[in-house]
Amino acid sequence: MAMKMKTTILVLAALLLLQVCSYQADSRSLQEESMIVRHEQWMAQHGRSYKDIEEKAKRFSIFKNNVEYIDAVNNAGTRTYKLGVNKFADLTNEEFRATSNGYKQAPFPRSCKATFMYENVSAIPSSMDWRSKGAVTPIKDQGQCGCCWAFSTVAATEGINQISTGKLVSLSEQELVDCDTSGEDQGCEGGLMDDAFNFIVRNHGLTTESNYPYQGVDATCNKKKSSNGAVTITGCEDVPENSESGLLKAVANQPISVAIDASGQDFQFYSSGVFTGSCGTGLDHGVTAVGYGTADDGTKYWLVKNSWGTSWGENGYIRMQRDVSAKEGLCGIAMEASYPTAN
Ligand SMILES: *[C@@H]1O[C@H](CO)[C@@H](O)[C@H](O)[C@H]1NC(C)=O
Repeated sequence: MAMKMKTTILVLAALLLLQVCSYQADSRSLQEESMIVRHEQWMAQHGRSYKDIEEKAKRFSIFKNNVEYIDAVNNAGTRTYKLGVNKFADLTNEEFRATSNGYKQAPFPRSCKATFMYENVSAIPSSMDWRSKGAVTPIKDQGQCGCCWAFSTVAATEGINQISTGKLVSLSEQELVDCDTSGEDQGCEGGLMDDAFNFIVRNHGLTTESNYPYQGVDATCNKKKSSNGAVTITGCEDVPENSESGLLKAVANQPISVAIDASGQDFQFYSSGVFTGSCGTGLDHGVTAVGYGTADDGTKYWLVKNSWGTSWGENGYIRMQRDVSAKEGLCGIAMEASYPTAN
């Protein structure tokens, strides 16, 4: 009797175990299936197709890893920002870094003037948004060309031009990509905003986006279009390095080109909120600080215009934590800031 009971219990236990196992297997394959569906939906949404089944399998596996990371971060709810399954979701972080940035190592000394015209500025508003002042063009998209430096240069130039003339004119990144071979500037292979500002001065201006539209690839310089300098600048200055208070004085007065370390996975998938890292100070991306403010929870931020289209971040923008303890600023934002000057 006792023996029989034991056997029954054992059998029951075994059955239960089997059930648990098969339930786990079911839920695993369900998860896998829903991931496949998510990948298909994401592909349709982003117009993505792959050349063969091997490529698709490889991309699916990267997508799955990324989505699991994004879901885990968002579900943990421990960060002040959210991540999103955006257009970079089927790229490894290495692939993302290779194609989406393009800021090079700056020489020392840097190539804009070291004088700082905003040095003695004392009236600094508590918040600023150059978009609402009409000094910022819509978000652009550099695509798979490492010419962030051209987009950052153009955004800062569009800004100072609107501030000094009252006219917002969208300007040509492609002209910089094709025609500016000065200093470190090498089209889709990277460059520096400082060199590009100096090119604009020597070239007697930069032409418009509509006259010399963006192609997203290296092309031959169209000298005729490039000689049509629609907007001129008088020079450029470097914001004193490693000073967020200096950067604040500058951004209070005009949109400012800044270099940042955008190489992290959280930056790749940033979707909303105030970004607090993690990131280092290996500057690899040029963007534009177009304002600053304080979030509802009291966190101070820089408002930064990126060049990865409107589907990334907050409609193409990122709010990055301001006044951090490191003098370099978050992701090195205060290390190599600069701006064009105008009459
Ligand atoms: C700021 O003030 C100091 C002291 O008055 C002066 O020497 C300096 O030239 C001023 N800087 C600018 C950019 O006006």
